[in-house]
Amino acid sequence: MAAISDTSGGRNMRIGILTSGGDCAGLNAVIRAVVNRAVRKHGWQVIGINQGTDGLIARPVRAMPLDFDSVPGNIMMMSGTILGTTSRGDPFALADSSGTVTDYSDAIIKGYHELGLEALIGIGGDGSLSILSRLAAKGDWNLVAIPKTIDNDVGLTETAIGFGTAVQVATEALDRLHFTAASHDRVMILEVMGRDAGHIALHAGIAGAADVILIPEIPYTLEAIRTKIRRRAERGKNYNLIIVAESVKTEAGRPVTMEHGDGRRRYGGVGQYLAARIGEMTRAETRVTVLGHVQRGGIPASSDRLLGSAFGVYAVDLIAAKNFGRMIAWQNRQVIDVAIEDAIASYVSVDPDDALVHTARGLGICLGDDADD
Ligand code: F6P
Repeated sequence: MAAISDTSGGRNMRIGILTSGGDCAGLNAVIRAVVNRAVRKHGWQVIGINQGTDGLIARPVRAMPLDFDSVPGNIMMMSGTILGTTSRGDPFALADSSGTVTDYSDAIIKGYHELGLEALIGIGGDGSLSILSRLAAKGDWNLVAIPKTIDNDVGLTETAIGFGTAVQVATEALDRLHFTAASHDRVMILEVMGRDAGHIALHAGIAGAADVILIPEIPYTLEAIRTKIRRRAERGKNYNLIIVAESVKTEAGRPVTMEHGDGRRRYGGVGQYLAARIGEMTRAETRVTVLGHVQRGGIPASSDRLLGSAFGVYAVDLIAAKNFGRMIAWQNRQVIDVAIEDAIASYVSVDPDDALVHTARGLGICLGDDADD
């Protein structure tokens, strides 16, 4: 980084960009759009910060100048992020493997100022945007935020980068499971991500013609699922496709989680729980597919490439207008901006009265709460 001279203002302005939190498809479309707009329209320098805020903790700071050659058209087809990212946790209180907690905020702020940046574009989900917002307040950063998350739970935007691809991947998985389920007369259970929200399961469940969709926002009973399976059998359909969001609890309300190597518990296992219970109750052969991080990778859907491009261009224009503390959002077919704080404060899970919940019920899909669906 030492090779980049310090600059400020006007056409010599220098801005930074980082990706934070879990990766997803469409992040490279944002980076490409930011570089194109910033360089073409304004003649600015763009500095890509590596591994999110971890890159600002490192000494020397981990960052690289981005120009047209860094963002060729073919990065639109690449998932992940060419900058790298971090999801290690809250840098204001980060625990190491021995349990020692350290506040890295001063180091991050110092790293940022060493780069001579006049503004930062931070791409993240609600957790990352909240951290970046706190860093911006403490470190006097000019922050513009872009929402990305396959979970689609960031407030004040109808969609976030990565969601479209995750839904596409989950839909394709149901498509593939359909015929193997039918061939063997099996109950196929697909467990999908989404953290505490059921958006992926609901969208993919409708698009992929699931028979049962289970989401954390709608409590279910195993009896309702059994009735659905029985009624389909009465109509000669001896197979069933069930899609379940990872944060759906046991019937008794216990979260299903797994401890990982880093000692943190993450969602996982509800598919196996359901398979065992449904197998016991119906004697049906059950099989489970856990889709996992496949939903974050692969070839980005066109919707994420478009959203990423639109958000990236808009973010640069917001900086040019010196309009900071804003998050780019998609509402009513328009790209707009909202206060980052307001977006973080309005987490969005599935509304049980949502239009797509009605769609699912209208199609006769069982949502687990009513055997007469
Ligand atoms: O928030 C995105 C997400 O993919 C969730 O859907 C999932 O629960 C979690 O991240 C997985 O996190 P990790 O990448 O740490 O396994």
